[in-house]
Amino acid sequence: MRLSLPRLIFWGALVLVLAAGGALAYISSGIYDIAATKQHIAPVYWALTTARRQSIRARVIGETPPSNLADANVVATGLALYDQHCRQCHGAPGLPPDAIGLGMMPAPPNFAQMGRDLSAPEIYWAVSNGIKLTGMPAWRFRLTEPERWAVTAFVKSSLNLTPAEFRARREQATGDSEERPKPRKPEGPWEPKDAIERGRVAILQYACETCHVIPGIRGPDAHVGPPLAGIAGQLYIAGVLRNTPEHMIDWLRDPQRIDPLSAMPNLGVSDHDARDIATYLYSLR
Ligand code: HEC
Ligand code: HEC
Repeated sequence: MRLSLPRLIFWGALVLVLAAGGALAYISSGIYDIAATKQHIAPVYWALTTARRQSIRARVIGETPPSNLADANVVATGLALYDQHCRQCHGAPGLPPDAIGLGMMPAPPNFAQMGRDLSAPEIYWAVSNGIKLTGMPAWRFRLTEPERWAVTAFVKSSLNLTPAEFRARREQATGDSEERPKPRKPEGPWEPKDAIERGRVAILQYACETCHVIPGIRGPDAHVGPPLAGIAGQLYIAGVLRNTPEHMIDWLRDPQRIDPLSAMPNLGVSDHDARDIATYLYSLR
């Protein structure tokens, strides 16, 4: 049978109508799980991250940042604004995101990763306009243009700050030296059953993937900390602790106590969550 043009159009249109009907049925059926504790499936994750990256890139072509971004005063202004408006979600040197930032899907990227991956105009654009469907607010009605550039200047320079330097400058800029209390949920006895699956969910809920590449966890290609594949076979944790399950739990719960110079913050991981996460990490080959 030869396909004439009208026939081709007919069959093409039929396929499109069926596909649209299928999509509509899928969406209205409620099968898709929108829980923030469930990862996106790989194609959805790819589509969302690629759209975000390309959309921001396309909107800053030809933009140049002001020449004073490396100016110490501008960075100091940016640090105070960042501490007030951004740290809750994106963390800061030595400080974790607050509870609100940890529970989000997608997780707000780590500040150092953003400073490395994005140009100053890209950061400025994202800060000014926000990002749909992610929880990233638009700041142009809240912060002036120089303030948005100052915050950008801080993000770009944050890579060079140690936790101690950040703490000192933050105290100087804001007068605030307090460490925020970490919320802890009540826990009964720990059950090893299903610990790997619970660990996978907990890893996302403490936003570990914003700093580490972890097999089985979809996230940005983050290299703030080392990749965690094969951690079970390592002799030491972070080069300072013999690699035993109890040491791993200690490290996950309070890395700053074990190594105050570490760039891994205290994320307020509970005892059970640390056990679940350690079980997941040791299951990785
Ligand atoms: C309520 C939480 C929240 C606050 C507050 C917040 N952000 Fe975000 N931010 C997000 C989320 C969520 C994303 C998107 C993550 C994704 O799409 O993977 C994001 C994305 C970004 C991006 C783009 C990252 C990229 O890789 O494309 C930049 C830059 C950024 N935020 C900077 C800031 C700055 C600077 C501030 C303070 C003025 C701030 N954010 C405040 C949650 C927040
Ligand atoms: C803000 C970034 C950041 C976050 C968030 C973070 N880490 Fe880390 N992590 C690091 C850095 C940096 C190191 C390297 C520490 C060092 O050597 O002092 C590290 C080290 C580690 C190590 C030791 C790795 C090795 O090769 O010895 C493990 C295990 C680990 N992190 C697990 C986790 C888990 C699980 C989470 C979530 C609960 C998490 N991290 C969250 C930054 C982070």
